Amino acid sequence: MINPLRGMKDLTFEDSKRFVYITTIATDIAKRYGYEYIETPILEETSLFRRSVGESSDIVGKEMYQFSDKGGNDVCMRPEGTAGVVRAFVSLKLDRQQGQKYKFYYYGSMFRYERPQKGRLRSFHQFGCESFGEGSVYEDFTIIEMIGDIFKALGVGYRLQINSLGCNDCMPQYRDNLVSFLNNCKDELCEDCNRRIETNPIRVLDCKNTNCQALLEDSPKLINNLCKSCDSDFNKLKELLDMSKKDYEVNTNLVRGLDYYNKSAFEFVSDDIGSQSAIAGGGRYDKLVEYLDGKSTPAVGFAIGIERIMELVKMPEIKRDGYYIGSMDDNGVDNLFGIASSKRQSTKVTIEYAPKKLKAHLKGADKVNAKYCVVIGEDEVRDGVIWIKNLETKEENRIDKDKF
Ligand code: HAM
Repeated sequence: MINPLRGMKDLTFEDSKRFVYITTIATDIAKRYGYEYIETPILEETSLFRRSVGESSDIVGKEMYQFSDKGGNDVCMRPEGTAGVVRAFVSLKLDRQQGQKYKFYYYGSMFRYERPQKGRLRSFHQFGCESFGEGSVYEDFTIIEMIGDIFKALGVGYRLQINSLGCNDCMPQYRDNLVSFLNNCKDELCEDCNRRIETNPIRVLDCKNTNCQALLEDSPKLINNLCKSCDSDFNKLKELLDMSKKDYEVNTNLVRGLDYYNKSAFEFVSDDIGSQSAIAGGGRYDKLVEYLDGKSTPAVGFAIGIERIMELVKMPEIKRDGYYIGSMDDNGVDNLFGIASSKRQSTKVTIEYAPKKLKAHLKGADKVNAKYCVVIGEDEVRDGVIWIKNLETKEENRIDKDKF
């Protein structure tokens, strides 16, 4: 028997119902905010992720499903959605239409070769949105509001954490200050942090080691060293969140695991799902389009981890729905299709091909959660009628077939 690979699973029954419900609600809300669907390939050139997510990130360093295809091309299964959407934005030359705004939403499988655990899979799904061409912090706020709307509609509780990652004007100076601080306590920091001081010192702030976290309490904070523009945008974002009465925490250690961010960065976390608590993350990435050879275009986006919220979603009550149709003898079966096809124009119909006794049909109708059980036997065919039972009200009737 061949099973799915480690860290991968089939979405079936209750999970697949939840998946469809989540993507339907999220799609509906994204459309209300002006987003259009985009589908990009799962497989991309490896260099795309190296250049966008970043060489020093864990994703690129350790977690990529990377291989040579039959043509010898170095390819990679997408670990996240943003890079592909930005690549498409540039490939389609949408960056040339300066001043135009484009908003895309997507959902699909992402692949990261991580150590599987609760809430952490190697093949998982994200629902994401990317907004291009809008540099105003109002857009960052609008995106945060949209995620809030999605979680509200799904009945998912969360804590919102925000931070600013500065820009090319303020980040380099801050990075130097941070490196001086880290070099002073180098011996006490963990091995990973020591490596990160060389490769990407900002990621040290994200270390989960409690000893490192304690040392970092006294580290310089970027939000105290922002340039005028970043400082004003961050204050505006907080003001907008305050004005709309949205709870949030400023987390100065929130750096995100991907290198493309600048200015606003945010995460939605849940306290109800264990250690892998981030249920959505995102932020602004104004340099990425240019970095992938497009014309400079401001951009901001987010992605929700669908598996992480699956158990948290409050599903609407499942009501009985549609028709179950069966016959009591061989002759009746041929008559079922006409009835089914007319009813299928507006509702769900299940046909049972095998002739059965009434009791067995009622059981079958119950199993597929039908609202009505329709049965035809010899008498019904002769009289041109159908027998129907409403499984909610238990009312039974014989109705003229044509009227039905
Ligand atoms: P990310 O924070 O890497 O951001 O992933 C977004 C969400 O995907 C996480 O908050 C988490 O819920 C879920 N997730 C990540 N890894 C796994 C995993 N191994 N198993 C299950 N769920 C997982 C991004 O991917 C960015 N592209 C978001 C973004 C869009 N930023 C701007 N635009």
